Amino acid sequence: MKDLEGKTVVVMGGTSGIGLATARQIEERGASVWALGRSAAKIEVAGKHNPKINFLALDTHDIPTLKQFLNQRAPIDHVVSAATGANRTMAPFMEQTDEQFREAFDKFWGYCNVIRQCVPFLAKNASITLVSGTPARKCVPGMSSVSCVGSAVEALTRALALELAPIRVNAVAPGIIDTAMFDHFGDNKSTIFEQMSQNIPLRRVGQAEEVASAIVLTLCNNFMTGTTIDVDGGQLLP
Ligand SMILES: NC(=O)c1ccc[n+]([C@@H]2O[C@H](COP(=O)([O-])OP(=O)(O)OC[C@H]3O[C@@H](n4cnc5c(N)ncnc54)[C@H](OP(=O)(O)O)[C@@H]3O)[C@@H](O)[C@H]2O)c1
Repeated sequence: MKDLEGKTVVVMGGTSGIGLATARQIEERGASVWALGRSAAKIEVAGKHNPKINFLALDTHDIPTLKQFLNQRAPIDHVVSAATGANRTMAPFMEQTDEQFREAFDKFWGYCNVIRQCVPFLAKNASITLVSGTPARKCVPGMSSVSCVGSAVEALTRALALELAPIRVNAVAPGIIDTAMFDHFGDNKSTIFEQMSQNIPLRRVGQAEEVASAIVLTLCNNFMTGTTIDVDGGQLLP
């Protein structure tokens, strides 16, 4: 299906995981895709396997370069922000410093930068899609900062859907998804995923492509705005 033919789409955090899977699906639907991330090494690997996607080094916290890039690509039809963009400290709230807690919000500030800088360069009927996460609404001990950041992303989605209309603003909330975010588990990754899956109704973790297809839906459905779509194997069920 080439329903995004002729569209220009920017995917922040598009060099790995959910963002890269999204960039691929969007490119397959005919759009011209710009996939951005900070590391040259990730860009090189992603570029080798995806020659039709335009990869570029860009940090969501580098506002002047972000603005210049978006200006050059205007008019932009859809912007997806899937960048992690922050150091997260997984620890009980009382064992975290203020600095560690604030640091987790760098993801949120990165999303704010992307939105502020992209809006002037958006096309008519444009959309913005952000990525939150299951902890926004179902937290486990040790994830308070991640939960607060996710809640902030979802609240911003609803607020901006009102303020920026007719630009559509949506979010997708992934559950536990097998991406590079968990590479620090090393050889234990599959064993840890199996343990984590015990609390998921579908008894498995998700794949980046499964989240990407929900993100693509938010681009293509012109009557969706202010919505958060959960892609979590049922993890949010009581
Ligand atoms: N995987 C999960 O289980 C899960 C669950 C809930 C929510 N999420 C959310 O889903 C989103 C995607 O995560 P993922 O699992 O796909 O992680 P990932 O595979 O690590 O991908 C993260 C992407 O973001 C880029 N990035 C990070 N910081 C950036 C910055 N400041 N500026 C530009 N690009 C930046 C990374 O490239 P560089 O490092 O080279 O910049 C990479 O392309 C994140 O917002 C994450 O919080 C993931």
